[in-house]
Amino acid sequence: MSLPLAKPVLGEAEERAVLEVLRSGHLSLGPKIPEFERRFAEKVGARHASAVSSGTAALHLALRAVGVSDGDEVITSPFSFVASANVVLMERARPVFVDIDPRTLNLDPDAAAAAITGRTKALLPVHIFGYPADLPALERHGLPIVEDACEALGAVHADGTPVGGRGHPAAFGFYPNKQLTTGEGGMLVMGSAEHKAQVDSERNQGRAPDMGWLDHDRLGFNYRLTDLACALGLAQLDRLDGMLADRAKVAGWYREALAGFEGLDLPCPDEGGDVRGWFVFVVQLPPGVGRDDTIRALAGHGVPSKPYMPAIHLMSFYRERFGHREGEFPVCEDVAARSLSLPFFPEMSEGQVARVAEALESVVYAGLK
Ligand SMILES: Cc1ncc(COP(=O)(O)O)c(C=O)c1O
Repeated sequence: MSLPLAKPVLGEAEERAVLEVLRSGHLSLGPKIPEFERRFAEKVGARHASAVSSGTAALHLALRAVGVSDGDEVITSPFSFVASANVVLMERARPVFVDIDPRTLNLDPDAAAAAITGRTKALLPVHIFGYPADLPALERHGLPIVEDACEALGAVHADGTPVGGRGHPAAFGFYPNKQLTTGEGGMLVMGSAEHKAQVDSERNQGRAPDMGWLDHDRLGFNYRLTDLACALGLAQLDRLDGMLADRAKVAGWYREALAGFEGLDLPCPDEGGDVRGWFVFVVQLPPGVGRDDTIRALAGHGVPSKPYMPAIHLMSFYRERFGHREGEFPVCEDVAARSLSLPFFPEMSEGQVARVAEALESVVYAGLK
């Protein structure tokens, strides 16, 4: 039987929560939205939260809130899901990529510092694969920071602050592979009440809360999240700690099962007090091992896997538009070329992890021994 690559935990509590909203007839702009926002903000230690239709929408509105616009530069990571760079383009600003730290795979703070110019409007670190980016190092510059925390629910910084709780606008995503899902959806958390007012207006076509139906005083979008989705999110929040603990347990099994695999790089262990919010289990294949062949052979064993993530600056659209080329960000490019995402979900059993490890061993190592 084939394993899934990812799988949300959904049960009777989620069914009940969604049914309750369905029966209420109040499917949008209802009471579940502020309730989900309040409880989510509490969870990550943020002052404010705004529920929106996706992580991308949250990032887009965050950039607008900190004032990114035409011709500005935003320093960000090329090792991310493409959305974190695309949102910069949505505001006609320029994503300035810098290389990543080889251990954490997050934005290298020294490279970010070296890239700051008079046109830099904001820094956009990504907590990739749920590992906290080095925010204290980035905060020293006094520039606005927008955090892409789409993969990092449950992560904690070395000083004990949960990711999302430092006061910067931080975007979370709720696609079904994430730590918490609403099907599609996202949440922007932030410390500023002014930002919250702007985001709430712009997610609803530019309508302020005290304005009437069809009255709008600024450019906005339809980035609303439904009450159905918020109810689902509330049920997921109730079980979040358990799901995060299960993810960490599965990661521990993987670490043990893959420990002796020569040349295989595993996700970095927590260091210096930083705590990863486990999202995916991504390994980097030993240099010289063909990734596409590995993916094909693993599929033959019923084990799905994915190259994760490709480098954004080498995608055709970014190459053509900005003239990016191989060799610009060597750490990112090496990691992107070797990264392989393995099946990973909270309900995965130790036996399933062992099956993946056996398949990987026979595919990558059998011929070498
Ligand atoms: C790092 C990162 N940024 C942004 C996003 C965008 O989130 P969404 O798919 O909810 O728009 C994702 C989600 O896949 C992500 O992993």
